[in-house]
Amino acid sequence: MADGERFDLIIRNATVIDGTRAPRFAGEIGVREGKIARIGDLSGARGSVEIDASGRIAAPGFIDAHTHDDRLLLSAPEMTPKVSQGVTTVIIGNCGISLACTPPRGAMTPPLDLLDGEGSWFRFPSFDAYRRELAAQPATINAACLLGHTTLRCAVMDDLERAARPAELARMREMAREALAAGAIGISTGTAYAPAAAAPAEELIEVCRPLSEYAGLYATHMRNEDDRVIESIEETCRVGRELGVPVVISHHKTVGTANHGRSVETLALIRRRMTEQEIGLDCYPYIASSTVLRYDRLEQSSRIIVTWSRPHPEFSGLDLNDVARRLGVSETEAVERIKPAGAIYFMLDEGDVRRILAFDETMIGSDGLPHDVKPHPRLWGTFPRVLGRYSRELKLFSLETAVYKMTGLPATRFRLAGRGALKEGNHADITIFDAGTVADAADFQDSTRPAQGIDTVIVNGEIIWRGGGPTGKRPGRVLLNRGGHVAAD
Ligand code: ZN
Ligand code: CU
Repeated sequence: MADGERFDLIIRNATVIDGTRAPRFAGEIGVREGKIARIGDLSGARGSVEIDASGRIAAPGFIDAHTHDDRLLLSAPEMTPKVSQGVTTVIIGNCGISLACTPPRGAMTPPLDLLDGEGSWFRFPSFDAYRRELAAQPATINAACLLGHTTLRCAVMDDLERAARPAELARMREMAREALAAGAIGISTGTAYAPAAAAPAEELIEVCRPLSEYAGLYATHMRNEDDRVIESIEETCRVGRELGVPVVISHHKTVGTANHGRSVETLALIRRRMTEQEIGLDCYPYIASSTVLRYDRLEQSSRIIVTWSRPHPEFSGLDLNDVARRLGVSETEAVERIKPAGAIYFMLDEGDVRRILAFDETMIGSDGLPHDVKPHPRLWGTFPRVLGRYSRELKLFSLETAVYKMTGLPATRFRLAGRGALKEGNHADITIFDAGTVADAADFQDSTRPAQGIDTVIVNGEIIWRGGGPTGKRPGRVLLNRGGHVAAD
């Protein structure tokens, strides 16, 4: 090491967890021009900025494998719910829902209203228009984008309760091709929801055809996550096999009391299929799920909390049974009265959550819903909860493994070039945290409380979070797929 060597930034005295699952080591990190220039002993070197990370972990910035941040990146580009957790890259456009391409009928159709109830944000005629706006008004963190099949359906079809006809298939396929050519990393589907439930596997395959040509991936909120979860996994694998592309099973879970414990079966099946094809999966660390308010979840849930309601915003945050009592009606009738609305459903088993989280191929994805009035706490708590509760307290896996599930593993699955590992030459996306205190603070009562223990967050070499607050920098980039290699333009 030549004495006096200069870096833009040096992180000193850190314990490095590099995102590959390798054991931690003591080291210093030198950053130059947005990249990690050196890791090692930098005692003779100088940084324009120096950070003392004594007693702290330096890890790759976390990658949120499953988000609905399409609008948040534009409407609240500081991205505080994510940055405060140490997240530096989000995968957007999940569950069949993306802001591009515009549904001409407006965005009111659930679940598109998870992104925007009024519809004014659904104003991007193409994926390219969306990514150009995001590039022109950068957020604090990076984003890689999926195109939503449900959005395409709403844009193209006059009747959503049937399979697409040949002309509609051709139109959707063309829109998909355009988006992939412009750098979308793949297509997501949400056949669990009404606007896409009528789409048979053949439709999904035909719309997603261009994935093969562009080396994109197929991510899915599967048709069924309760009694027919096995058939749904088989359908997902079939789509991947017929197209010859990787699949990602979103927020994997087994829903409802009758299916508690069935993650033993689902994970065994996924493991078996993994020997034949590329499969990824993600999971959030909670026993409650959240989406639009729907009848079919009433019986499967032990408790339901209303997260928003268009006709009755005053009910946000209340239990559905409380709402029913106040209205003097049954819970079923209450659902009818307060729709459109969103809800949190307690319907998973802690044993399944732990088994799925601990599965070695499971990535961490928050599935946070940033526009809900009283959101599920996963929006603000997912990553520190995995590090604090599931790794440190419950010892479900080592800290190195926890970090891998939120860095190296998703970078590999989503093919993010030069991210997800602390190594020389990689982009300097770095999160510095206190392994002893990192913890989620958001809960079901107070669901937007920022996490503890995340010290400093660095994106593309710029410090965006320091000492519990934002710095105002916005170095986030749009990561685009170019033939299976996902990188900033
Ligand atoms: Zn979903
Ligand atoms: Cu989702």
